Amino acid sequence: MITFDENKQVFHLKNEQISYLIQIEEEGYLAHLYYGQALSDYSGHYQFLRSNRSFSPNPAGATARSYSIDTLMLEYPGYGYGDFREPAFNLKLANGSRVTDFRYDRYEILAGKPKLTGLPSTYVKEEKEAETLHIYLKDPVAQLTLRLSYTIYADYSAIIRSTKISNESTTTVEVNQLASQCLDFPNRALDVIHLNGTWAKERQMTREKIEIGTRVFDSKRGSSSHQQNPFVALVEPTTTEFQGEAYGICLVYSGNHETVIQKDAFLQTRVVTGINSFNFGWQLLPGAAFETPEVVSVYSATGLNTMSQTYHDLFNQRLVRGKYQLQERPTLINNWEATYFNFNDEKIYGIVDQAKALGIEMFVLDDGWFGVRDDDNRSLGDWFEYEGKLAKGLAGLADYVHQQGMKFGLWFEPEMISANSELYRQHPEWVLATPNRGKSVSRNQYVLDFSRADVRENIYQQMTAILDRVPIDYIKWDMNRNMTEVYSLLLDPAMQGEVSHRYMLGLYEFLEKLTQNYPEILFESCSGGGGRFDAGFLHYMPQAWTSDNTDAISRLKIQHGTSMVYPISSIGAHVSAVPNHQTNRQTSLAIRGNVAMSGVFGYELDLTQLTADEKAEIKEQVQFYKQHRQLLQFGTFIRLQSPYESNDVAWMFVSKDQKEAMAFYFRPLADAAAPFVTLKLAGLKTDGIYQWNDQQITGSELMHLGLYVDDSLHGDYATQRFYFKEV
Ligand code: DGJ
Repeated sequence: MITFDENKQVFHLKNEQISYLIQIEEEGYLAHLYYGQALSDYSGHYQFLRSNRSFSPNPAGATARSYSIDTLMLEYPGYGYGDFREPAFNLKLANGSRVTDFRYDRYEILAGKPKLTGLPSTYVKEEKEAETLHIYLKDPVAQLTLRLSYTIYADYSAIIRSTKISNESTTTVEVNQLASQCLDFPNRALDVIHLNGTWAKERQMTREKIEIGTRVFDSKRGSSSHQQNPFVALVEPTTTEFQGEAYGICLVYSGNHETVIQKDAFLQTRVVTGINSFNFGWQLLPGAAFETPEVVSVYSATGLNTMSQTYHDLFNQRLVRGKYQLQERPTLINNWEATYFNFNDEKIYGIVDQAKALGIEMFVLDDGWFGVRDDDNRSLGDWFEYEGKLAKGLAGLADYVHQQGMKFGLWFEPEMISANSELYRQHPEWVLATPNRGKSVSRNQYVLDFSRADVRENIYQQMTAILDRVPIDYIKWDMNRNMTEVYSLLLDPAMQGEVSHRYMLGLYEFLEKLTQNYPEILFESCSGGGGRFDAGFLHYMPQAWTSDNTDAISRLKIQHGTSMVYPISSIGAHVSAVPNHQTNRQTSLAIRGNVAMSGVFGYELDLTQLTADEKAEIKEQVQFYKQHRQLLQFGTFIRLQSPYESNDVAWMFVSKDQKEAMAFYFRPLADAAAPFVTLKLAGLKTDGIYQWNDQQITGSELMHLGLYVDDSLHGDYATQRFYFKEV
């Protein structure tokens, strides 16, 4: 998959779908030649033009005025030696200089994919699945080495990159920026699609034309954030869900991140992605190394659906781990929106009984079971049971739930601490706080300094004391604020620029230990809904709570955007009560069901308050989902019609063997004398014959002719399900 042509000085990373070309250019600079559809070969005809551009310097040692790295497409550009565009790294040397000059030194090609140290990453099961290229660049003056790492799998249209810097000098170097990757594009028109939002409105898809200048997509919140997901796609202006080129760029990281997109005067576009360089400063001691998170770049020649499907497959197969990686996920009932903090035995046991009667498989006890937690002003950090809130305690409840043949899940928010808690009274120094300043609160809580081993150990002991005593099948790991006054008391002043990343390394170490030691537990990540829905977390937890907004109509956009990158089996989605608690909207139970079934399905409402009709409908939904969940959780997902574009929304799921398919149509608002709507399906076998109700129809008809949506649907929030099975 990876070759090096000595004569042309070109690396070719290649599988059946993609090629990626890197050229060692004059003076040992590493140029980016190409990323896109597979090339059968590279003949060497495509060489960067030697053409003088005024004010573009010629690097030391170059013989011609026409050669400048200021105009070259580069693999990993720096600062200070002739490229004035956005750099991929920024280093402060002991003499105060920020000028470095890295040139090609050597390479190695490895079978498989080495692990990153302490960071989540994609992996191989067998070495032959992938190859990894390491290219070493050296700055002999600074005595620093950069190692650029590129992995290509045989079966995925993706390149995975990360960077490592080693300090071979005798002085400390301050790393102020070290991107995971830089991807340069030649002169061409491109749009960027990014996923932005806020609490209850996560991963909204926005598409913009890339203009000359610089645009930054980032988070400085200490987490990947509700506001800007660590993902962008660069697409042609004509790219749609079904056609055109798309390049997805996804950082496997859950902390501060940035993607800088810069289009230069020659209309070349540079995309630099990595840990946010803002306020970042890592003291790289003599002999030490620093490794970045990785970026998964997916290429699609056939539109956004193909890009997303590659992410879904690659992440499910080679990022997510553990017992539940490819296992069907249980339907659940969560008590949060049913009770908030205000619950007692009668309510909780009543919900469990009703859930059992409806066929739901797991009960999750949310916030409010620990310390003296009756509201969100107290007790975070005190992970011991709230005596008396439930007469038989957690163990009694877990036993009861298990006796009903259901699983039992529990909520934690391990990274947080309330000022009003035992733990804070004992250890006020354990929070992130800047000396001599006040501490901002958010939801009346502080953030524990997870960069500290003693803090992590305390929380780990408290959590596992519960887990070792109470039989728990599922954990919801929440995180309900962002970081302010970021400072760690254990670190020297010069190291304070390391705190945010050290926090992430500490968190990842914790998650690794917890998930490895409790392999039977299904974990779901959460951060006030979808504030930390990222590929980093997926390595430890196979699913995430997508949004605190459970309104079906809001969820159309949220889940649509989330599906750009993240697998359907990771998208937690619940049916909740109406009027909806976030939007006050009154939608049909049918549309709430169909939207939630397009994710990992559950309920989050007071089941003891249902009417007989609602119970019957929910029972049917649960049964239907269980019957089809393999298809819905792990089938190929296709976005047919976007909620960002019209009032007709449609999604589809096709089994990997193309023998079954499900489509959901959603029409949020009714219209009088409405146009007739045809749904054209996708992803079926052209000449397969599919049973739909009492008709047998070929795949080609379903895909090209389509079928009419039921014209008798009326009222707002209408929806229709279509199920097809090959005969
Ligand atoms: C935020 C989560 O997103 C909710 O689902 C719920 O668990 C609350 N926190 C509990 O405090």
